[in-house]
Amino acid sequence: MTAAKESFYLTTPIYYVNAAPHLGTAYTTIAADAMARYRRQCGYDVLFLTGLDEHGQKVQAAANAAGRDPQDWVDALAVDFREVWRQLNISYDRFIRTTDADHTAVVRALAQKLYDSGDIYKGSYHGWYCLPDETYWAPNDLEGTPQGAADGTEGADGADSADSATGDRVPLCPDCHRPLTWVEEENYFFRLSAYQDWLLDYCEAHPDFIGPETRRNEVLSFVRGGLKDLSISRANVDWGIPLPWDESHTMYVWFDALINYITAAGYAQPGREEEFAHRWPAQIHYVGKDIIRFHCVIWPALLHAAGLPIPERVFAHGFLLTRGEKMSKSKGNATRPLDLVERFGVDGYRYYFLRDVSFGQDGNISDEAMVQRYNGDLANDWGNLVSRLFNMVGKYRDGRVPDYGGDMTADAAEGAVLRDVACGLYDRVRACYDRLDYAGALTEVWELVKAANRYLEESAPWTLAKIASGGTDGGEQDARAAALRLSQVLYSALEAVRIVALYTAAVMPATADEVCARLGLAPASAIDNLAELSAWGLLPAGNEVRVGDPLFPRLEK
Ligand code: MSP
Repeated sequence: MTAAKESFYLTTPIYYVNAAPHLGTAYTTIAADAMARYRRQCGYDVLFLTGLDEHGQKVQAAANAAGRDPQDWVDALAVDFREVWRQLNISYDRFIRTTDADHTAVVRALAQKLYDSGDIYKGSYHGWYCLPDETYWAPNDLEGTPQGAADGTEGADGADSADSATGDRVPLCPDCHRPLTWVEEENYFFRLSAYQDWLLDYCEAHPDFIGPETRRNEVLSFVRGGLKDLSISRANVDWGIPLPWDESHTMYVWFDALINYITAAGYAQPGREEEFAHRWPAQIHYVGKDIIRFHCVIWPALLHAAGLPIPERVFAHGFLLTRGEKMSKSKGNATRPLDLVERFGVDGYRYYFLRDVSFGQDGNISDEAMVQRYNGDLANDWGNLVSRLFNMVGKYRDGRVPDYGGDMTADAAEGAVLRDVACGLYDRVRACYDRLDYAGALTEVWELVKAANRYLEESAPWTLAKIASGGTDGGEQDARAAALRLSQVLYSALEAVRIVALYTAAVMPATADEVCARLGLAPASAIDNLAELSAWGLLPAGNEVRVGDPLFPRLEK
């Protein structure tokens, strides 16, 4: 921990360990990773947390179905998750598992605190439960959805009275449309209802807490509809954290899971008090739109009850859809991330999802669109710029960054345009990242890629090289002027490439670092002073420029 730097703490949801990661879970993780990398480049002390939600009935059921002990099962899948994140170049700082000893201790400590303060009490629960979603559904959530004529309502909590039982008809989950299970047992409850007014006031006073706007409205109307106390324990689920004051109950998996965010920041851990003060509250919780209520209703209420500050922002992204349907393991339409990495490369993969899907909305993804983005933006615009420019530097300037004589103002008008695009980029890109607009940030950077390509076309280095070598009728003076201009043009274009590498490193770290290496520079993904380093004219003359293999070999459709 570097206390002098400002903290930027961001999290992904912790994923259920019922199967290996798919494109949906990888999507959140990649988006968070790009933000973590970008903030590190900007000089923040970043804590990027991801991990696994290992307890609960759903994971236990998956382990049972596989004939495995739950701990062995989660241990094995944890290896698979880490391996996928390694291949996708995910730069997490901690990979938390809810079976970790520090986490179990924090969950118990927090539960005890809330029990002692009277925020947790014993009651009885009977109602419908969705096992795959580990979600309690209140009767009013199920209205109009008997036997699964689902209305698309998403996620919910809330324990309630038994009048939700509809004889022997089993309603389907309004979210995932699978049959619900009737649960009747003595449970411990969290006094969520007591925090309704506080939460509404809080959201009012902190308009940025929930994003995007549509999700904020959805949460507000849900809260206004009335909050019910939440069952936070299960009497017959073994695979969970026992309550400290009543070991016959295990903690409801969502209660256990949400707390991971403060465990990793150091909450209630002797010796980590200062760190916790530095890290908490988090800057962003990334979540999918299906789990917004857990993060924007239950979580803030729990934190407030425990006397802790609320995270700055919860941002919900949309679903990845294939042919209009949510991609999920249970629907059998989930693609394995590594299949796409093999085809598009890790950076081609990362770029596509952040560029083509507008973050916060659902996004249809398809192979054709992916090939189109890859060939158009990456192979043609960016890859080609680097390869033809570096080849020209090899041919006309012995593979070294030319010394243009130091006077950039002597460059012609097109050069000035290129510089202008580059110079305004820092603020424009930052504004996009501040609103989690990845596609916007990449579009801004592409303005520079395109401007550099145009610049080469317009200033035609190949013609300048010909004049410089005396291969035309112009005199010696013309040749000297053309040689100087050729150096300026190549320098300016190389400088644009260096700056593009810096700005693309958050999304495409491997390629950006490779471009820097070919320019004899330190890796773009390791910098912590983007504002200074993205200033124009910092590329040292004389550096060797290596051509290398194409960055993004063209794909056949
Ligand atoms: N374990 C809980 C989260 C606890 S966080 C304290 C959970 N896990 S999950 O594995 O089911 O889902 C994790 C995330 O993956 C959710 O944010 C969900 O929205 C996201 N995705 C799952 N399928 C998705 C798509 N098809 N598209 C985009 N993201 C989706 O919920």
